[in-house]
Amino acid sequence: MKLPDYKEARSRDKRKYNRLTFKIDNNIEKKYNGKKYFIKTYGCQMNEHDSENISAIFEAMGFESVSDYHDADLVLLNTCSIRENAHNKAFGMLGRLKHLKSQKKDLLIGICGCMAQEVKVVDEILNDYKFVNFVFGTHNIYQIPEIVDKAITSSKQQIEVFSREGDLVEGLPVVRTNSYKAYVNIIYGCDKFCTYCIVPYTRGRERSRKKEDIIEEVKTLVKDGYKEVTLLGQNVNAYGKDLYDDYNMGDLLEDIAKLDIPRIRFMTSHPWDFTDKMIETIGKYPNIMPSVHLPVQSGSNKILKLMGRRYTRESYLDLFHKIKNTVPNVSISTDIIVGFPLEEEEDFQETLSLAEECKFDNAFTFIFSEREGTPACKLKDNTSLKEKEDRLYRLNDVVNKYFLENNKKLEGKTLKVLVEGVSEKKDMYFGYSETNKLINFTSDRDIYCGDIVDVEITSAKTWSLDGKCK
Ligand code: SAH
Ligand code: SF4
Ligand code: F3S
Repeated sequence: MKLPDYKEARSRDKRKYNRLTFKIDNNIEKKYNGKKYFIKTYGCQMNEHDSENISAIFEAMGFESVSDYHDADLVLLNTCSIRENAHNKAFGMLGRLKHLKSQKKDLLIGICGCMAQEVKVVDEILNDYKFVNFVFGTHNIYQIPEIVDKAITSSKQQIEVFSREGDLVEGLPVVRTNSYKAYVNIIYGCDKFCTYCIVPYTRGRERSRKKEDIIEEVKTLVKDGYKEVTLLGQNVNAYGKDLYDDYNMGDLLEDIAKLDIPRIRFMTSHPWDFTDKMIETIGKYPNIMPSVHLPVQSGSNKILKLMGRRYTRESYLDLFHKIKNTVPNVSISTDIIVGFPLEEEEDFQETLSLAEECKFDNAFTFIFSEREGTPACKLKDNTSLKEKEDRLYRLNDVVNKYFLENNKKLEGKTLKVLVEGVSEKKDMYFGYSETNKLINFTSDRDIYCGDIVDVEITSAKTWSLDGKCK
């Protein structure tokens, strides 16, 4: 048994980590033929992509996927810790699974992902959720075959969570959920330690994959007919810093742009480390999508400092305008937190005025959620929840106004759309523009998922656009 430990999770020393290649033990390969698994994934793209790896490992063990958890022999919750409500959702699902297990005694239940890295959560699972069979963390996905095999063959709860990441593992198998768009990890972990954020504790230090491994993966995706790759990391701009002296995110973007992949996206970019080379490269290569997610969090310098964000309102705005002026037709989206401890109405007004100035194409807005073990917990929080909710509504009014205003400007224009499917009502296709706008559209001719088509925009809504295929 290995329990999570925040002290280890916080440590960032100069030690070398190992680079391993995944291999499944012959004795476990296909051992569970005919058994069924179901994974419920919460949280960000990093977790979604981990679930694609975990699925493939389960399948290597012989499990088959099912779309209803009631039919599964093994249910895994891949969890997220970012805010309180993510926690609540996972515990709600655990409640339902407890009920299911009372009728289906052999049901195997597992927990992984960021909540598995939390000391308090694992404590709770040990004491109050004894029906959970196994827990593993974000750093030891490669050990799933042994952990699950042990959970099945012995009746003891298996808890294996590394807090101090030891390895960077290549060669994990993957079952991709989409045949046209693929996630590609480029850097794991986060060293930024924003004072409100749990991620540096749940995902460990920044560790870049070797550029050759990334380029090889993208080449294989091209061969397999993929049209879009999203380069993933909690802070992709830090790519290469731990590994190379003279090769960084700008260089990687350029090398990938030279491959024959029609669409490249990347997320997330912290405003820190967003180099001129990156901006120029995004502007220069038509296959790097003109769409940047640039979380600002707050418009107040006082709050940005308390958040440990390493930039000021002014330097954020400089970067924002530089990107806007260099990359033609770029769309910029953001994340904003309201109700951070010590945020006064005048700080919030600065956030509103920044939102007015930037007129973001999209924004994810959140109320601050206290995460145990993070430095922001020690700050005095004297704003009532009602006031925080009120700030969130007022902010949403402003950002929504600009989503619609920006979309209206696209009416009558023709956008390139990667066709992803047919809407639920089956009367429209849907897909995303280069600027990452959701487009619902009709077509008089036959088109197929994975095609990139020209769509004339007929009407704009706040969160989507309607159009007609040319
Ligand atoms: N690495 C990315 C963000 C990943 S988390 C970046 O720094 O740009 C996604 C978003 O969740 C953050 O941008 C932030 O807006 C929000 N978030 C993170 N921790 C939070 C907390 N404790 N309470 C509320 N929102 C939070
Ligand atoms: Fe969290 Fe900040 Fe790292 Fe983003 S950059 S994951 S907000 S600590
Ligand atoms: Fe959540 Fe972990 Fe992602 S906390 S947002 S799943 S990195």
